[in-house]
Amino acid sequence: TDREMEKRVREIKEHFGDRLFIPGHHYQKDEVVQFADAAGDSLQLAQLSAENPAEFIVFCGVHFMAETADILTEPHQKVILPDLRAGCSMADMADIHQTERGWKRMQEALGDTILPLTYVNSTAAIKAFVGENGGATVTSSNAKQMLEWAFTEKERILFLPDQHLGRNTAYDLGIPLDQMAVWNPILNTFEYQGDLEDVKVILWKGHCSVHENFHINNVEEIRKNDSQMNVIVHPECSREVVALSDFAGSTKYIIDTINQAPAGSKWAIGTEMNLVKRLIRQHPDKEIVSLNPQMCPCLTMNRIDLPHLLWALESLEHGAVKNQITVDQATAEKAKLALDRMLARV
Ligand code: 13P
Ligand code: SF4
Repeated sequence: TDREMEKRVREIKEHFGDRLFIPGHHYQKDEVVQFADAAGDSLQLAQLSAENPAEFIVFCGVHFMAETADILTEPHQKVILPDLRAGCSMADMADIHQTERGWKRMQEALGDTILPLTYVNSTAAIKAFVGENGGATVTSSNAKQMLEWAFTEKERILFLPDQHLGRNTAYDLGIPLDQMAVWNPILNTFEYQGDLEDVKVILWKGHCSVHENFHINNVEEIRKNDSQMNVIVHPECSREVVALSDFAGSTKYIIDTINQAPAGSKWAIGTEMNLVKRLIRQHPDKEIVSLNPQMCPCLTMNRIDLPHLLWALESLEHGAVKNQITVDQATAEKAKLALDRMLARV
């Protein structure tokens, strides 16, 4: 039963003490988050993993987060992902071979004028490519700051793999939409009507399959039914949705905003379901709904559940490290350059 599993998790955590660290992303299920030593957004989890000396890091999140933790920790520390199927469809949209092929084409068209930036939601190989080419990683909580920095380095930016976070952030910095080109990695070509010389930001054609479920008609519908509703969304939503919303920001920003909101205020939230449900439960004094009434789960985040967490911990208890995530040294060194450039600035 769940009770028995919870009891076992508690026992094993107690047994390992400081030798074990469990970070949990805000999108994880409650049954998992209750055992997290720290819950956070992608930036916080990267920072915490970098600082934590624990021998075993059982990462409750998705594959790219566990890779990042492995890159930022010492070689003797072991990072474990309780279910190896917990990937991220967005990270999978930027393949390293496609990226190298595209980069060549971009350089031919625009010369050495481009700095690559990658959202942390990307594979270690993509982070290594970015690190090697002088660029950095970004998260949704520092994308603006990092884009500003990137423009002090080069005239143009290639933003991987989420076109929406890239477009929303560049727009916030005052870059007009007609100076942003989409890069189609399948066709290996720009999707752009004007003169390429005018392009300031090249947006990799990737997206989040959870946040693409929030549409402008959801915002219109909510507002039509109740004009008092505040709409808050994650910047992985499309430009149109973000433009219609009242607020946009990372999961931490969404949580902080709701925490500070006055009793009686009304909120429609455009982000992953587990977080929306948790906020609904934690704030009975506020009226909170999902921006899309269907509720939008991240199926891969949800693969980490109590049985998988317990299985990973029981394996450790029996002296077996199962589902360890390791990034090869050559890739890790280059990827760390990209991560360190971000961590030094935030
Ligand atoms: P943040 O928690 O950094 O906002 O990231 C959201 C996300 O989609 C993680 O996969
Ligand atoms: Fe990837 Fe989107 Fe899931 Fe985050 S919410 S892990 S970006 S698919």
